[in-house]
Amino acid sequence: MVREEPLRIRRRILIADDNAEIHEMLGDFFMSEGFEVVHAFDGEEAIRQTAENRPHLVLLDMRMPGEDGLNVVRRVRETDLDTAIVLYTAFGSEALGLEALRAGADDYLKKPVSLEVLIERVNAVIIAKEGHNVLRHRAEQRMRESEELYRATAAELAGRVATIDVTQEIARAVLSDLDLQAIAHTIVTQWRRLLPYDRAYIVLIENNRTNCVVLATYADDIGDSVEGWRFPLADTLLANVGQDRQPLRIADLHSQPELPAFAQRIARAGLRSLLIVPVLVRDRVVAGIHLSGFEPSTFTSRHEELATELVGTASIAIQNALLYRDLRESYKSLERAQVELLRKERLAALGQISAVMAHEVRNPLGVIYNSLGAFRKLLPPGGDAQLLLSIVEEEADRLNRIIGSLLDFARPTTLELTPGDLSALVEDVVRGAVTDSAYRPSIEITAEYLHQPNGLLFDVHLVRQALINLLQNAFQAIEGRGGPGRVALRTEDAEIEGRPYVKISVSDTGGGIPDKVRERIFDPFFTTRTMGTGLGLPIVKRVVEDHSGILQVETRQGEGSTFSILLPRAPRSP
Ligand SMILES: Nc1ncnc2c1ncn2[C@@H]1O[C@H](COP(=O)(O)OP(=O)(O)OP(=O)(O)O)[C@@H](O)[C@H]1O
Ligand SMILES: [Mg+2]
Repeated sequence: MVREEPLRIRRRILIADDNAEIHEMLGDFFMSEGFEVVHAFDGEEAIRQTAENRPHLVLLDMRMPGEDGLNVVRRVRETDLDTAIVLYTAFGSEALGLEALRAGADDYLKKPVSLEVLIERVNAVIIAKEGHNVLRHRAEQRMRESEELYRATAAELAGRVATIDVTQEIARAVLSDLDLQAIAHTIVTQWRRLLPYDRAYIVLIENNRTNCVVLATYADDIGDSVEGWRFPLADTLLANVGQDRQPLRIADLHSQPELPAFAQRIARAGLRSLLIVPVLVRDRVVAGIHLSGFEPSTFTSRHEELATELVGTASIAIQNALLYRDLRESYKSLERAQVELLRKERLAALGQISAVMAHEVRNPLGVIYNSLGAFRKLLPPGGDAQLLLSIVEEEADRLNRIIGSLLDFARPTTLELTPGDLSALVEDVVRGAVTDSAYRPSIEITAEYLHQPNGLLFDVHLVRQALINLLQNAFQAIEGRGGPGRVALRTEDAEIEGRPYVKISVSDTGGGIPDKVRERIFDPFFTTRTMGTGLGLPIVKRVVEDHSGILQVETRQGEGSTFSILLPRAPRSP
């Protein structure tokens, strides 16, 4: 308790003595000197009165019933350093007086003492005590302040150490891991040690900068898990962050008038506050770390600063992982290009051999056909000999077909792209199909044309060849099941990875393709039919690839198959 009243204020003195006469005498005296006087007649009372009345000075008799003066000094000093205490002792007990000073008394007087001396000493002690108290209080205040400073510094230091710890752990993840997903998980879990979020999402902007994907989440429970979610960049606040490259802090999502879809979803899950920190790679925002809390104003500017500090290491980690991913993708496409090159080389070699073979085989075939004609004339009609001749002729036809297919497959093609009429072509193919040897009247053929007839360039001859091959396979699959069936052709518009295509599909109700067969149907010369050459589908594939198109196969065991040719459509001219 600080008493900084000016001196002219009335001072209070407590006289503690068991002698009533002394009380009377000293009381009158101090009152005449302008003091307010309080009385105590034993030690206990002296202690109580000191606590209650807080006198400026206690004049204490050494010898009193109960607690003696010395003990009173000790007990008062346990809680009170401010009150001045002066002891007076009987003659001859100086040792006791010294003891009292040690216990915390401010002065001691030996009886008898003149009133003049008494008042002089009392005033001097009060003034000295007051000065002392001011200095002591100031020192205490300083001590308290430096203690607070020390505590704050210690807390700040502990915070720093924790930050360094987490940063190091993320740095370790950088070195030990190159997998984007794993790094993202490390970030959302490690950051939780420093930042008070309830939920976190790392959203990566895809290379095309129109879409983004949720890489990792912390305690994800907004409906179904959103990890792996892909959505337009415009559906997130990340689009705003991407522009000014600064963190975005929203104190309460619920008081925002308009929110993009992803932020709305976060808000619907009961989350109120949001802090988005951009991840920059070469000055470009590549991802956003979304931190979110159930309470409004979860994040302070200090949190924002901390997250901005932490995001540096996170950016390096993510950048490395992205580079690694790109590298891996380049390797893969290089590998694909190599395989393709090898295939092309093989096909070129096959083409050369086929040309020679076709020439070598077709000449003797011509001779066989001529001889067959001569034989037919020589032999009487009907009979076994004519039957045998028919067999020879059929086999010769087959050989001729094989050579034809081989040439189709292996001949280096030059595409003749023209803006042909696809519907007319399909109709033509359907009309011709009924004359195919594999066609049976129990097979129903339907055709639907749903595509827009513009912007499509294709080689009419090659696409016709591909469609005929698919139809033949469809007929043969239905025939293989023995019974009626249906083949449906359909043309329609399609879009794959944002690019426009026209899709021509051939569906059949043949029994589907078993997995073991499915793996090999595009291998040249692979066939499951006794009369097949195994070149039908490889030719289809080749035609599609020459058009930079896509060939899709869907098949359901026991139900049927659909082969679809997707031909790229030129982008529509404005
Ligand atoms: N629509 C289909 N339904 C079921 N299986 C099919 C279908 N199309 C192809 N296959 C399977 O794929 C194999 C290869 O077909 P591909 O057209 O390449 O050769 P092929 O028909 O056997 O002989 P060809 O050279 O005379 O066409 C076929 O033998 C058949 O087993
Ligand atoms: Mg075939």
